[in-house]
Amino acid sequence: MLFAPTLRATLRRLDDLLLPPIRMTENRLLSGRVAIVTGASAGIGAATARTLALAGASVVLTARRLDRLEALTVEIEEAGGRALPLRADVVSLSDTREVVRRTLDEFGRIDVLVNNAGIMPVAPLADVRIEEWTSMIDVNIKGVLHFVSAVLPHMIEQHSGHIVNVGSVAGRRPFPGGSVYAATKFAVRALSWGLHLELGSAHGIRVTDIQPGFVSTELLDGDPETAAAWSEAWKGRRTLQPEDVARAIEFAVTSPDHVSVSEILVRPTDQPT
Ligand SMILES: NC(=O)c1ccc[n+]([C@@H]2O[C@H](COP(=O)([O-])OP(=O)(O)OC[C@H]3O[C@@H](n4cnc5c(N)ncnc54)[C@H](OP(=O)(O)O)[C@@H]3O)[C@@H](O)[C@H]2O)c1
Repeated sequence: MLFAPTLRATLRRLDDLLLPPIRMTENRLLSGRVAIVTGASAGIGAATARTLALAGASVVLTARRLDRLEALTVEIEEAGGRALPLRADVVSLSDTREVVRRTLDEFGRIDVLVNNAGIMPVAPLADVRIEEWTSMIDVNIKGVLHFVSAVLPHMIEQHSGHIVNVGSVAGRRPFPGGSVYAATKFAVRALSWGLHLELGSAHGIRVTDIQPGFVSTELLDGDPETAAAWSEAWKGRRTLQPEDVARAIEFAVTSPDHVSVSEILVRPTDQPT
């Protein structure tokens, strides 16, 4: 987000030149673990899936754009990892249940769920864009709840598991035009806290709310006007890259079992708010 698509594409190409090719890491802390990553077709989700796979996890990649999930699966498998691409819309409870069923069929367990899928249409409340508000509630809140409900029985039975919810800095402080989006991320933060209270000690399930600041992704691609305005506002300043958030998620899920990294706020150094 924040960058007009062309500027973002140029930065990504520069990154490609500077970064080494992906390969399995020496320290495969997630070897034998199974992770489901939602919204894995782009941005933070794709980077997280790559990072967890390279740390040794078998990853289930889910989103609506199956072609992208399949391309990422090839990339992960060529690097020596294991991945399973599954199309699902998080708004559909039956889709999410099917992802969990297929994951258990294929891998026999679920250790990590990364609830990352999200949308962020930006507009002042006075515009009263009810459909956008409803979509954000459906994807950003109900989508998270759908996947939580689908994995919980298994994690409770296993007496272990880690749920990572991708919230936002907006889940701590709303911004103009982002009030409903912020409301959904406040909800994700509250839910994460509640999950910890009810499932941590009782069922050995850990929960992390990751709160990124500005990350260069496709989040605003459907809204060229806002994307251009934010790109202009960020001219000369550095945003986060999806990999920066993926590293924070990797840190949380590779912490020892008795450590529940409850929240991580990760902002660009250049972000003033
Ligand atoms: N970028 C930022 O600055 C920023 C900051 C803080 C928090 N976040 C949060 O980070 C998360 C990832 O966002 P991103 O920045 O990486 O954006 P992105 O590049 O636009 O990726 C969003 C992902 O969500 C998936 N998605 C959207 N609607 C879906 C649905 N109904 N069902 C299933 N998957 C759906 C998309 O896949 P398909 O379209 O293929 O379904 C895509 O993979 C979001 O929760 C966002 O709120 C982002």
